[in-house]
Amino acid sequence: MSRSAHPAGPRHADVLPEGHYSAPPADLNTLDPKVWAQTVTRDQDGVVTVGGIDVKALAEEHGTPAYIVDETDFRARARAWRSAFGTDADVFYAGKAFLSRAIVRWLHEEGLNLDVCSGGELATALSAGMPADRIAFHGNNKSTEEIHRAIEAGVGRIVLDSFQEIVRVAHIAQSLGKRQRVQIRITVGVEAHTHEFIATAHEDQKFGIPLAGGQAAEAVRRALRLDGLELIGIHSHIGSQIFDMSGFEVAAHRVVGLLKDVRDEHGVELPEIDLGGGLGIAYTSDDDPSEPHEIAKALTEIVTRECEGAKLRTPRISVEPGRAIVGPTAFTLYEVGTIKPLDGLRTYVSVDGGMSDNIRTALYDAEYSVALVSRTSDAGPMLARVVGKHCESGDIVVKDAFLPADLAPGDLIAVPATGAYCRSMASNYNHVLRPPVVAVNDGESRVIVRRETEEDLLRLDVG
Ligand SMILES: Cc1ncc(COP(=O)(O)O)c(C=O)c1O
Repeated sequence: MSRSAHPAGPRHADVLPEGHYSAPPADLNTLDPKVWAQTVTRDQDGVVTVGGIDVKALAEEHGTPAYIVDETDFRARARAWRSAFGTDADVFYAGKAFLSRAIVRWLHEEGLNLDVCSGGELATALSAGMPADRIAFHGNNKSTEEIHRAIEAGVGRIVLDSFQEIVRVAHIAQSLGKRQRVQIRITVGVEAHTHEFIATAHEDQKFGIPLAGGQAAEAVRRALRLDGLELIGIHSHIGSQIFDMSGFEVAAHRVVGLLKDVRDEHGVELPEIDLGGGLGIAYTSDDDPSEPHEIAKALTEIVTRECEGAKLRTPRISVEPGRAIVGPTAFTLYEVGTIKPLDGLRTYVSVDGGMSDNIRTALYDAEYSVALVSRTSDAGPMLARVVGKHCESGDIVVKDAFLPADLAPGDLIAVPATGAYCRSMASNYNHVLRPPVVAVNDGESRVIVRRETEEDLLRLDVG
């Protein structure tokens, strides 16, 4: 994605510095529905509302920073994924994107399955009533205890990620007198991110068993021999924030190639194929994600075509979207603190959170947008960098974005599309307390994960 500097003059620079930003939007008060949750709008006073509640009321009741989740939007997106794939396929929400008990209940009610990748995620899922047989258990280094717990609970599948794990899961299943349904996660030599994919040499990673050199075929051979395992399929996850389906095309081609080899060698047609998650969302107005029904149609066609070519029965498909369901449904609400104009550069706008509630900008150079939400403004655009309160100069939430030049301490600003990989990756750096997650729906707000307190921090500090 190429972005260019805009000639329009913000408050503190005649010539804009190099940066990753588009032209300022014609109207800074407009909220692009692509990046904001479904029920977000401005009321007649210009205050942003979500689920019928204005952000000033939310800030007053719940404090800032806070993650605000639009429950209506979450449920609508979950349903859209479910119905796009129909009854011949399974949608496993990837809990790593964001998981809480309320989220588990919403998923359950909307008919989705759940992918977990740790004992903690499994405990959350089970404690909120997700039926164990609708849970897939992932991870490249599951502990013996986690495997034991997952099998005992009766999870629907364990995704095997290494040769050691094949043996370990089989052994534990047998010791519990069970036969565990498993998939084998393979790496197909494709890595996809955003608009690009690379189809060579990406076995160099910690996840999965490489297709290259016959390793995946050997893993299948071993799994089929073990009584404790029922091998139901092959799993592949190729990357994140993907818009271009060609990476999935190559992945499906290679996975189906393996299914064909398995059929030829063992006379067994594995009944399932999981294509993982990684579907992209709009973090800024420059991103154009596809709708779930377009993705479902494309993936189903790809797998069907490949299977017809290989003369295989089309396996049941499953997918694991995380970001694409929860990402757009939330925004982070911050109060503006200090404002520091740097002549000829940009204005640093400090907020009351930062890299502890959104590490993605520092970690991945992720791009976000931001808006003034407690009022509208007629002031011109100011090139801003939204930064946090941490002792780290890389503590950036939004690298380059335009905010109204009359922005003042005490204003509320919000960063949209923070539903995925923000609260779930949050930290206590500088002993900053992790923000609450507040769900809004039909004029009501409800804390689903409460704000951390100093007592929470001190409870763990037993020295
Ligand atoms: C195996 C697997 N499935 C699903 C996902 C979810 O990806 P996303 O949230 O980008 O859809 C991930 C993310 O890392 C993953 O590793």
